[in-house]
Amino acid sequence: MKIIAIGNQKGGVGKTTTAINFAAGLAERGKSVLLLDLDPQANATSGIGIEATSEGCMYLPLLKEAKIEDKIIETRIENLFFVPGDMDLAGVEIELAQEADHLTRLRTLLEEVAEKFNFDYCIMDTPPSLGVLMTSAIAAADEIIIPLQCEWFGLEGLAKIVHVLSQIRESGASKVKLSGILMTMYDGRTNLSRNVVSEVQKFFPDEIYEAVIPRTIRIGEAPSHGLTIYEHDSSGTGSKAYAAFVEEFLARQK
Ligand SMILES: Nc1ncnc2c1ncn2[C@@H]1O[C@H](COP(=O)(O)OP(=O)(O)OP(=O)(O)O)[C@@H](O)[C@H]1O
Ligand SMILES: [Mg+2]
Repeated sequence: MKIIAIGNQKGGVGKTTTAINFAAGLAERGKSVLLLDLDPQANATSGIGIEATSEGCMYLPLLKEAKIEDKIIETRIENLFFVPGDMDLAGVEIELAQEADHLTRLRTLLEEVAEKFNFDYCIMDTPPSLGVLMTSAIAAADEIIIPLQCEWFGLEGLAKIVHVLSQIRESGASKVKLSGILMTMYDGRTNLSRNVVSEVQKFFPDEIYEAVIPRTIRIGEAPSHGLTIYEHDSSGTGSKAYAAFVEEFLARQK
């Protein structure tokens, strides 16, 4: 089971949208996928049309008070399994921080999952912070995908997260590899979008994905219907862009 965090400490850059449509896209390609919502905002949960409950989330497993396998649910999408998020996860930030093994708890839980189930991928949606949930996800992950909004402040945030990744690697807490950078909310009519993409291409030529996610009304409204972009607008540019990203990701895995 390959573990992939979708992360960027900057808020509103398309992490959750990417986590949902990446996980669903892999499932559609026949991969067995576990999606974990590690964000107290629980946007991935409502965005995929599932109700958040405090009993359902990772809160108790992370505090060693329940088993993660009891929290895994099936979804309507074939091959896609899910552990919902919930507001209660906010408590983890405080309670787990006091434990000596807080950085490695999630990794240990996912090792158990890998032993008991046959998932090809575990995809984690993370909160916009560098708190315990986000750093635990990085420590547990084999790879991280960074969604980056085509905006100027996105570039500043990128430098920061790349720095944090190298700090975490140097501390020995994780071997996490930068899988790639996915440009999101691209608006081809603006110079800014094009300039931001070419800046990232200049500094991260091997990491940036060729697939770019456009800003579209359909992508923005899909979560309000609790649907993936493939369900909401199967032949639109948003679906095509996310499907192209999934293809490119899989091609890079070889
Ligand atoms: N390509 C897109 N086109 C249009 N709207 C988008 C696109 N991607 C994301 N959005 C919208 O932008 C907002 C932020 O996206 P999203 O929730 O995925 O970001 P996030 O990084 O997970 O945010 P947070 O940091 O709060 O967790 C949401 O309302 C989402 O529906
Ligand atoms: Mg989010």
